[in-house]
Amino acid sequence: MTGGVHVLLVTGSTRGASTNTATLRTARLVAPEGVTAVLFDGLADLPAFNPDADEQAPHDAVRNLRRRLAVADAVLFCTPEYAGSLPGSFKNLIDWTIGSGELYRKPVAWINVAAPGRGAGASADLAKVLRYVDAAVIVPACVHLPVPAPRSDRTAPWPTRSSVTGSHRCC
Ligand SMILES: Cc1cc2nc3c(=O)[nH]c(=O)nc-3n(C[C@H](O)[C@H](O)[C@H](O)COP(=O)(O)O)c2cc1C
Repeated sequence: MTGGVHVLLVTGSTRGASTNTATLRTARLVAPEGVTAVLFDGLADLPAFNPDADEQAPHDAVRNLRRRLAVADAVLFCTPEYAGSLPGSFKNLIDWTIGSGELYRKPVAWINVAAPGRGAGASADLAKVLRYVDAAVIVPACVHLPVPAPRSDRTAPWPTRSSVTGSHRCC
C-alpha cells in the first residue's frame, strides 16, 4: 500500500444494480486528495458464519475480508434495510470479524441511502453491531442520504456526486 489514508468501502447489498454500491462508487470518485477508497466486492463470496470454521482454517473469502479490513485505516459502510434490519449477508460479514477483531477500534462510518422515512431500522441495527464490535464510529461522518422511492428495486435511482458530498448528517 502507498501512503495516504486507505478507506475500505463495504456495501451491504449483493444486488447488481445496487443503490448502496452505487453510492460507495460515487464516494470513491469524490474521495479527497490523499484518500484512497477501495470497494470491497466479496460480500456474496462469504460462507455462512460458523464458529467452528472461525477457529479452524477460514475460507479464502473470509481471509480476504479480514486482510482487507486489517490494512484499511477506516471503513465506510452502506447497506440497505431488509425486513426492518440488516441484510443477512451483511450481518454475516460482520459476524466473521467478531472473533478476529478487525473492526475493534477501527474508525468507521456509514451512509444510509433510503427513501424519506425508510431505512431507520438498518442504521439503528448497524449502529448496534458496530458498538458491539467496539468499532470507533465517527458520528459526524455518518449520513442519511434521502433518495426518491424507487419505482421498483430494479429502477433504484443512482446517487449523484453532489448528493453524496452534500448529504444530510445523521445527527
Ligand atoms: C427482501 C427485501 C426486504 C426489504 N425490506 C425493507 C425494509 O424493511 N425497509 C425498507 O425501507 N426497505 C426494505 N427493502 C427495500 C430495500 O431496502 C431497497 O430496495 C434498497 O434500495 C435496496 O438496496 P440496494 O439497491 O443497494 O440493493 C427491502 C428489499 C428487499 C429485497
